[in-house]
Amino acid sequence: MHNMKRFLEIKNRIREVRTLALMGITEAGSGHPGASFSAAEIMGSLYFQVMRFDVTNPFSQNRDYFINSKAHSAPGYYATLSLSGSFPKEEMKTLRKLNSRLQGHPVRYSEAQKHHSVPGIEYSGGSEGIGLSISVGIALANNLDNRNGVVYCLLGDGEINEGQIWEAAMAAAKFKLDNIVAILDRNRIQQDGFSDDIMPLDPVKDKWLSFNWDVSEINGHRVEQLIDELKKKSLGKPKIIIANTIKGNGIKHMANNPQWHGRAPSKKHLPILIKELEGEYMIAPSIIAGDDGESYESKIEKAERVGSDIIHLDVMDGKFVPNTTFFYDTIKELRGITRLPFDAHLMIQNPYDALDSYIDAGCDVITVHVEECKDEKEFEKINNKIISNGVSPGIAINPNTELPEWICRYLDSLDVIIIMSVNPGFAGQKFMPSVLPKMRNLIPSLRSSGYNGYFEADGGIDLSTISSCYEAGCRIFVMGNAIFKSPDIKETIRNTKFLLDSSLEKELLRESESYGIKDDWMKIRKSVLGQFNSVKGIWEQ
Ligand code: DX5
Ligand code: ZN
Repeated sequence: MHNMKRFLEIKNRIREVRTLALMGITEAGSGHPGASFSAAEIMGSLYFQVMRFDVTNPFSQNRDYFINSKAHSAPGYYATLSLSGSFPKEEMKTLRKLNSRLQGHPVRYSEAQKHHSVPGIEYSGGSEGIGLSISVGIALANNLDNRNGVVYCLLGDGEINEGQIWEAAMAAAKFKLDNIVAILDRNRIQQDGFSDDIMPLDPVKDKWLSFNWDVSEINGHRVEQLIDELKKKSLGKPKIIIANTIKGNGIKHMANNPQWHGRAPSKKHLPILIKELEGEYMIAPSIIAGDDGESYESKIEKAERVGSDIIHLDVMDGKFVPNTTFFYDTIKELRGITRLPFDAHLMIQNPYDALDSYIDAGCDVITVHVEECKDEKEFEKINNKIISNGVSPGIAINPNTELPEWICRYLDSLDVIIIMSVNPGFAGQKFMPSVLPKMRNLIPSLRSSGYNGYFEADGGIDLSTISSCYEAGCRIFVMGNAIFKSPDIKETIRNTKFLLDSSLEKELLRESESYGIKDDWMKIRKSVLGQFNSVKGIWEQ
C-alpha cells in the first residue's frame, strides 16, 4: 500500500486552505498571503495526514507537535487548523479583529489563553528565530518522559538568518534529536525582498549537513513528496526537509512577488481570486499510449521529468473493453520507481473482486466504471472498500452512459468522476465532441448538488480539445498519445499548460467584466497578462 492517503481529498482540502486564508486576510484588510500560500501544502500534509494529534484532546501525551516558528503563515495555519476540526470555518472572518481568537500572530493554546487562541496551537510566534529552540526543548522533554511524539518545526528562509536558529541546530545534533523534523519553507523571499539580495542562504543544504543534520530537498508544493519525506525517520540525527516553494503560490500575480508578503487583496477581487484557486489543474499521462516498444518505466520517468502531476494507469481486461493491457502486478512493480500518485482506471468486469490487489499495489486513486456497478448496493460496497483503505475513490462513465440517480447520495465521498470522451479500449482515439454538452450539463448540476471533488477528462485529449474540457469544468486531464507520441514531450506539456492558463486568464477577465472592475483587475494582473500577449487577440474574445 502507498504511503499517501486520499490524495485527491488532501489536494482539495489544501485548495480550501488557500481559499479560507484569502477570505480571512481580505476581510481583515491585512495579513500574510505570501507565506500562507507557500506553506499550504507543507501544513496540509502535516495536519491532514502525517501528524498524530486530536484537536478534541489537544494536550494528549503522545501527540506530535507543530511549531510554526516562522508564524507569518498564520492565516494559512488557522485555515488548516479549522479544516482539521479546531474551530468553525466561519470564524476565519474574525481574523485579526479585536477579541478574535485568531490574532495576527498565533498564540499558544492553554486553559489561560483559550479566549485568545484555538486548540492545536502549541507555540506563540511572531518574533522570528525562536521556534527551533522550543522544538529542541520539547524533543528533549519527550525523550526524558519516554514519549514518542515527533516535533515538526516550520522555518522560514528569512528566519534562518537569526543566530539562535544555528545555536538550536547545534544543540539538536549534539543531543541526537531524531524526534525533530524541521521544514524550511524555501520560498526565497523575506519580508519585501529576495533573500538572495538581503542575506543569501546558499549553499543552504551544505550548511545544515555541516551542522550534522539529516537533509533532504523536495518540491514543497507536491504533497506526495512531502508526505513521503515527513514520514521517513532519520536515525540518531535531527532532520530538515528543504521544501522549495513559491511565495504566494496559487494566485499568479502574488506568486514570487515580494510585494505580496504581507498585503491584503481588495474585497472586490476576492470572488475572482477564489475562481483562480478553483482553476488549478493536473495532467495525468496515460502510459498505455505511445510506442509499444517503450517500457512503462521509461514512460513514467519521462512523464515525471516534464512535470506531470499524476500517472494514469489504464487497466483493461479484454472483457469490459476489447483490449487487454496490464493488471495490479505490473502496477506493484512500477510503484517503486516514482513517488507520483497512481491513478488506476479499472476497465474491468467485477471490479469489487479485484480491489484488494489494486489497493495493495499502491494505487492512490481507484476508479471503477459505473457500467460495471449493477446497482447502488454494489457501488456502495466498492466505494466503502476503497475509502476505508485510504485510497481516493472515483467513478467513470462512458460517452453514452448517464450517471444513475443514486449517485447523489455519494457525492460527499467521491473524489473524482471520469467523464470518458472516447469509448474506452484504446489510446489514440478521436475525441467525441458530443461529450462536451454532456460535461457542460453534468458538471454544474453536480456542483449545485454539493459535489466538491474533481472531474477528469479521459480520451482524445490534446491541444485542440483540452481547453473546451477545462472551460466545462474538468480539472484532471488524461493525455495518452498527445504526450507519448509527441516528438517533444516537454514542449507539449508547456503548450498544454499555456493553453489552460490562458483559458483561466480569459475566464477571470470575463468575471472581472461582469463585476464592472475589468480595468482595475487588468491593472493588478498586469505582470501576468503580459505573458499571454503574444497570443493574438486573446483578450478580445
Ligand atoms: C481510453 C483510456 C484512456 C486513453 C488515453 O480507453 O481510458 O486513458 O488511453 O489515451 P489518449 O489520450 O491517446 O486517448
Ligand atoms: Zn483512462
